[in-house]
Amino acid sequence: MSDMSWFEQRAGLDGTVAVVTGGAGGLGAAIVEDLAANGVRPAVIDLDDAAVKELRDVLDKQGVDHIVTQGDARDPDALTALFEQVDERWGRVDTLVNIVGGTFRAQFVDTGAKGWDAILRTNLSHVLHACSLAVPRMQAGGRGGSIINLTTIEAHRAAPGFAVYSAAKAAVEQFARTLSIEVAPDGIRVNNVAPDYVPTPKLASLGGGDSSLSTPEGVRVAIPMGRAGHVTDVSNSVVFLASKLSSFITGTTLHPDGGTFASSGWFNWPDSGWANHVPSRILANATLADATEA
Ligand SMILES: NC(=O)c1ccc[n+]([C@@H]2O[C@H](COP(=O)([O-])OP(=O)(O)OC[C@H]3O[C@@H](n4cnc5c(N)ncnc54)[C@H](O)[C@@H]3O)[C@@H](O)[C@H]2O)c1
Repeated sequence: MSDMSWFEQRAGLDGTVAVVTGGAGGLGAAIVEDLAANGVRPAVIDLDDAAVKELRDVLDKQGVDHIVTQGDARDPDALTALFEQVDERWGRVDTLVNIVGGTFRAQFVDTGAKGWDAILRTNLSHVLHACSLAVPRMQAGGRGGSIINLTTIEAHRAAPGFAVYSAAKAAVEQFARTLSIEVAPDGIRVNNVAPDYVPTPKLASLGGGDSSLSTPEGVRVAIPMGRAGHVTDVSNSVVFLASKLSSFITGTTLHPDGGTFASSGWFNWPDSGWANHVPSRILANATLADATEA
């Protein structure tokens, strides 16, 4: 009898290889560490030198066989070099996790072609390059594979101040849907994970707007489950999608968001409860505050 647990047997992750872009960041490091905890050998590319060194240390201490390189996932040559290193070292790719992404807050009319291009390159183009490198390797391996893109709730609703980011992430979602069908006969699955608010150090630097989401009261109103996301809420979803526990799931999106996507504009207001508009009592107070300030 195998001494593997039920989860280990069903998941089938032990000994597999995952390429992870942006794998040293807030969500990335949690994802890489959780994949590694399940016996996955990670190959990471990340821009942030300090974060790369930190991740290497953590994985070394855990005795994980890894490749963690500093580089720019927007550069097709850097991505190619990473995949070639993986070919040489392990000769297989089972999972690709595209985590690189980011944005800045601005009204669309205040932005221009340079900013749009930067956002598209950071959130969309490298996903295409990474998939074009992973899919032929997965096909040649004959073992199938799993591609997982980190998108966002903003790919599923309007996101004032983030129009191009929202469009780029929605494009990733739609790309994944189509690619999943093209590669389904090869046993390769393509899915997305769309978090809402998961406090990570870089998220705080986005700033702007009303920061009530950083208060327990604000979180209770906006997120139905009444708490912010934890990095493990996201990494658990990625481990599931990388594993054979999700072996018949493709072309779809997991929403580790505490119900925000489902609630779509319904808020849990203090005292009055659920409403899809601001209760007049709160609006009246807001008007009063404005009038007092003026
Ligand atoms: N944190 C959240 O609340 C949240 C919510 C929804 C979606 N997301 C998405 O999750 C992903 C990760 O977010 P995060 O909060 O961990 O952000 P993060 O900034 O902490 O992590 C991103 C990582 O990618 C790296 N990176 C950025 N550009 C790169 C490039 N060109 N090449 C290589 N590495 C690069 C960064 O150095 C960083 O380590 C992003 O795609 C983001 O849009 C995050």
